[in-house]
Amino acid sequence: MKTTSILFATSEMAPWVKTGGLGDVAAALPAALHRAGNDIRVLLPHYPALRQAFPQATAVAELPALAPALPAARLLAAEADGLPLLLLDCPPLYDRPGNPYVGADGLDWPDNAIRFGLLSRVAALLGQAASPLGWQPDVVHVNDWQTALAAAWLHYEGGAASVVTVHNIAFQGCFEEPLRAALGLPEAAWRFDGVEYHGLLSFLKAGLQLATRISTVSPSYAREIQDEAFGYGLAPLLRHRREALHGILNGIDPVLWNPTTDPALAAPYAANRLAAKRANKLALQQEMGLDPATDRPLFGVVSRLTEQKGHDMLLALGDALPELPAQLVILGSGDKALEAGFLALAEKLPGQVAVKLGFDETLAHRIEAGADCFLMPSRFEPCGLNQMYSLRYGTPPLVQATGGLADTVVDVNEATLADKTANGFVMADGSTDALWQAMQRATIAWLDKRLWLRIQQNGMRCDFSWHHAANDYSRLYRDALAAHR
Ligand code: ADP
Ligand code: GLC
Repeated sequence: MKTTSILFATSEMAPWVKTGGLGDVAAALPAALHRAGNDIRVLLPHYPALRQAFPQATAVAELPALAPALPAARLLAAEADGLPLLLLDCPPLYDRPGNPYVGADGLDWPDNAIRFGLLSRVAALLGQAASPLGWQPDVVHVNDWQTALAAAWLHYEGGAASVVTVHNIAFQGCFEEPLRAALGLPEAAWRFDGVEYHGLLSFLKAGLQLATRISTVSPSYAREIQDEAFGYGLAPLLRHRREALHGILNGIDPVLWNPTTDPALAAPYAANRLAAKRANKLALQQEMGLDPATDRPLFGVVSRLTEQKGHDMLLALGDALPELPAQLVILGSGDKALEAGFLALAEKLPGQVAVKLGFDETLAHRIEAGADCFLMPSRFEPCGLNQMYSLRYGTPPLVQATGGLADTVVDVNEATLADKTANGFVMADGSTDALWQAMQRATIAWLDKRLWLRIQQNGMRCDFSWHHAANDYSRLYRDALAAHR
């Protein structure tokens, strides 16, 4: 198969900088494309964690100030297990502690337009004849609003074909009009079919309008975002560009997320050795201060606590948990009211509900392994990785039928048990009642040990390796190139 040269631009990459699934995808997808023989390089900001991880990174290009608001910068090269990284070094913009998008006060960094404007501008530059690297990729692949604006420069000035992937359409990167000139975008770009969106400069809209091809992270979400209810204002544009829009389901990293070798677990286990999973439940109950109950299922949550994820519904049901009966363990952070609500619930139901606020990678693994059932009542979920981790860990997910959740979780019923596809619980609709009913169904199913084992094993057999997605992206790149010529 002919390979393609690709620049993959991202604002986060696990394990160094991760706020959610984009970090996981930006680590695993380029690695899979690299293994498949493609010439792929990953561009990302030189955040403090990358300075620490790659002290030997060497400067490969000096970049002059590319626009009135964009400072001069450098590109450093490093390698992560053979995968080439290009680190965009500009200390005033990227060398700051904490989250890549928000400061300690929880508010967006005030210069995000400049920080991600520069990242986008440099992604585009590398795709142009003027690339200072002596390397010019066939395709510039950008991700979410933080890099989407690259497609605008490639469109107006020429260069590589561009692919923009939407991981979450709710975040669009909209800024005041003067930034157009400050970032060095041509005046001609200020049009409804250019970078302008309701009087603002929208990074994501610009990418969706001007990229050669668009993808999103599941087939269902590709359909949903063409609908007003899910498109966050961009549905008409996506309907207009539907021929260019593809849904490619994310994969998961089968080495990092493997219950037989996961170093974070109390006891390793596999589909044919599921009895050992119980030791992980007991260890998790102990770690989180839950009663060591064996007569009720333990529901688990690892999540950003935001409106998207639907955990407000779970909170509303919290008081009734002992009625199921069930236990609940939550790891997450985000919305302050949800954080406070879950803390109060844990205080009210000690031994039954445990909450840890914050981001804790290894506890996330122990919850995947120690919980019996994993809750994702998301209102929308472009792909979702945790339901796939749960399936692999024999922890059947309970989900709302949306986006990637609808594409990966098959509800338990007679027909799906017969054809061995049943692997979790799907809410009948988006209501709190439907969540409660699905939790009741899961609790009853859990009490039937043989039934539960079948559901667990069906899930553990699913193949979510990146191999399939990497093939689909290779096809998408070729398609983008053909359209670009
Ligand atoms: P999203 O990107 O919308 O947050 P995904 O399911 O795609 O949702 O990915 C979330 C990723 O972030 C998963 O790898 C999940 O384990 C991780 N994660 C989310 N919250 C936490 C947390 N509080 N601690 C550790 N990992 C977390
Ligand atoms: C976003 C989405 C999530 C998806 C992830 C990686 O953060 O919310 O559903 O899995 O990106 O594509």
